[in-house]
Amino acid sequence: MKKNFIKNKKILVTGGAGFIGSNLCEALLDLNNKVICLDNFSTGKKENIAQLLANSNFKLITGDIRNIEDCKKACENVEYVFHEAALGSVPRSIIDPITSTNVNISGFVNMLVAAKNAKVKRFVYAASSSTYGDSKGLPKVEDVIGKPLSPYAITKYVNELYAEIFHSTYGLDTIGLRYFNVFGRKQDPNGAYAAVIPKFVMQFMEYESPVINGDGEYSRDFTYIDNVIQMNLLALSTTNQAALNQVYNTAFGERTTLNQLIIALRDKLAKFDPIIKEVEILYGPNRAGDIPHSLASIDKAKKLLGYNPEFSIESGLEEAVDWYWKNLKELEKNK
Ligand SMILES: NC(=O)c1ccc[n+]([C@@H]2O[C@H](COP(=O)([O-])OP(=O)(O)OC[C@H]3O[C@@H](n4cnc5c(N)ncnc54)[C@H](O)[C@@H]3O)[C@@H](O)[C@H]2O)c1
Repeated sequence: MKKNFIKNKKILVTGGAGFIGSNLCEALLDLNNKVICLDNFSTGKKENIAQLLANSNFKLITGDIRNIEDCKKACENVEYVFHEAALGSVPRSIIDPITSTNVNISGFVNMLVAAKNAKVKRFVYAASSSTYGDSKGLPKVEDVIGKPLSPYAITKYVNELYAEIFHSTYGLDTIGLRYFNVFGRKQDPNGAYAAVIPKFVMQFMEYESPVINGDGEYSRDFTYIDNVIQMNLLALSTTNQAALNQVYNTAFGERTTLNQLIIALRDKLAKFDPIIKEVEILYGPNRAGDIPHSLASIDKAKKLLGYNPEFSIESGLEEAVDWYWKNLKELEKNK
């Protein structure tokens, strides 16, 4: 499959020091591309790209997508853009909607303008499953969305609207990938806005009781990072014209409850340290802005992009837990 992906190109990854962005940079370098990473390190980490800095095909630009000059500089002579930079997290956007809006909307528009001016061939961006908002139907299909339930969800929906307008008005080709709860190596377990999987893993490893928001029966379509990388590479490489200027669910296509997830994590970690099996799981109140269930139809991506996710939730969790176990000491240093 690797041989069909784009190689020997100059590609910009915004948010390239973050979880998804740094994994993407690595995959692109493996394909012999020249990679520019634009990041302001607000949530990204130097450790995520430490090994890449030694690669002569990798260039870091420390800058902010809220600054159009930084965006223009990063887009110079670039053929393709992966736009991953944003402030993630629904709770963060509820506490500080202004900063989330400035980064996720104004920063996004800056990047579209810079990409259009630089005549990039394709702009692939991180959209979000939060765009489904209060829509009730499952599985989620791309054409049927509800009302957003948080400032973050609004910002991600507005991104899709802007991408459409930049195509119809300026002819910029875009593809939006609605990520569904991505997890895997390099995802930050620390901080108030950490995602559940790395957070629970870290807590178990420290014999600390994880707290589930609600009764644990909310469910998510947890998606392993390598499936997400595959989607991004397909979106960048596809020669199918009908696949362009579309949004795609980027998921595995299976639903796991928080209760199932946490038991699976505890069991997997207990293989490394049997004491973890005894760590108690606690329950707290539901969290504002959370949707009860999320499950993606991945039919559109299969049909138009040839997407074929290689990692199930089970095999992805296995890989992720293994990585966190091996990197525990490093992660503790960054706390
Ligand atoms: N992880 C998920 O499950 C998930 C789900 C849906 C959507 N997304 C989207 O995917 C993208 C990547 O998410 P992630 O999980 O890797 O998060 P992350 O926080 O690890 O990465 C985001 C990166 O963007 C950088 N950044 C933030 N603001 C910036 C700014 N103003 N200028 C330049 N760089 C800036 C951060 O420093 C960080 O390196 C985001 O757009 C996010 O909204 C992620």
